[in-house]
Amino acid sequence: MVYTEKNDIKYNDALKKKIAKLKTKRNACIIAHNYQRDEIQEIADISGDSLALSQAAVRTDADVIVFCGVQFMAESASILNPDKIVLLPVKEAGCPLADMITPEKLRARKEAYPEAAVVCYVNSSAEVKAESDIACTSSNAIEVVKSLPQRQVIFVPDRHLGRYVQLKVPEKEMILWEGFCPTHIRVQEEDMIKAKSIYPNADVIAHPECKPEVLSLADHICSTGGMFKYVKQSHSKEFIIATESGMLYKLQKENPDKKFYLPTPRLVCANMKLITLGWVAHSLEMLVYEIKVSDDVRERAKVTLERMLAVTGEKKEAALAGY
Ligand code: 13P
Repeated sequence: MVYTEKNDIKYNDALKKKIAKLKTKRNACIIAHNYQRDEIQEIADISGDSLALSQAAVRTDADVIVFCGVQFMAESASILNPDKIVLLPVKEAGCPLADMITPEKLRARKEAYPEAAVVCYVNSSAEVKAESDIACTSSNAIEVVKSLPQRQVIFVPDRHLGRYVQLKVPEKEMILWEGFCPTHIRVQEEDMIKAKSIYPNADVIAHPECKPEVLSLADHICSTGGMFKYVKQSHSKEFIIATESGMLYKLQKENPDKKFYLPTPRLVCANMKLITLGWVAHSLEMLVYEIKVSDDVRERAKVTLERMLAVTGEKKEAALAGY
C-alpha cells in the first residue's frame, strides 16, 4: 500500500501506530537525522548528527535499520552493518553536496598530490569513501585532520568545512575541493546581521557548512549534535541557529524555556524533507528501499569510516588493524 501525505492528526496517529507494529514485527530500529521532519524525529528510536548516527548504526542489534536521512547516511549504515537490512524510505533522498565529487575526479586530484592524505566528509558516496584514507563529520573534522601524520591534506567535498578546519589546524596544508551544501549557503551575511539586530541578546550558532562571512558572525561553530550541547550549557535564553530548520524541533523540545530563531526561512533541505510518516510505514511494510554497496567498495569504504570512528574512540582495534 502507498500512503499519501496528509496534514491530519488522526491519519498521522494511525500511521504512527502502524509504524510501531511493523517495527516490532521486523525487529527494526528507526534512526533519524536532526534535519528530519518533526514527526519523523518524534517516532525515531535514535536521532542525532551524522557521527552519532554512524555510531548508533554500529551498536544496534536490530535486524532492520530504517534510515530517515539522505542516501550517503544510509549507505554508511549499510557499510558498517553488511549483515543488516538498511532501508532508505525514499530512494530519491540524495545529497547534492555528495554529488559534487566523483571517484574519478578524486583519483586525478590524488595523482596531483601523491604525498597528501585524503579526508572525505561523510557527505560523500561510498565510492569516494573507498578512495579516501579517512572520513570525518562536522563534529570531528578538526580532530581527524590533526590525527594525520601527513602535512598535506586533500579535503573533499565541502570547501567551507575544509576552510574552517584549515583555520583551526594551520600546521596542515589543506587542498580543498570546491563543493558546498546548497542549503547552508543560502544564509547570507545580511540575514545574520538582520537577525542579530532583531535579537540582540541571542547567542549565534552556525554550522561549519555556512559561508566564511556567516561563520565570522557566529559566537559558536559546531555540528548539529554540538548545538544541543552548547545550548544546554549556555546561560543565554535566545539563540540564532544557522543550520537546517529541522534542528529547531528537538532544540525547542529539550529547552522549553529558551527561544530559537532561524536567520532565514530558506534553511530547508528539500531532500531531508522527502521522508514522511507514510513513506516510513511503506518502507517497513515492503522492506524498501534497501541500500547495498558492492563488496569491493564496501570493504574499502568501511576502513575509511572505521578509521574515523577510531579517532573518536569507537572500534579502535578494528580500525587500527586496517591502518
Ligand atoms: P551534522 O554532522 O552536523 O549532523 O551535519 C550533517 C549534514 O549533512 C549537514 O549538511
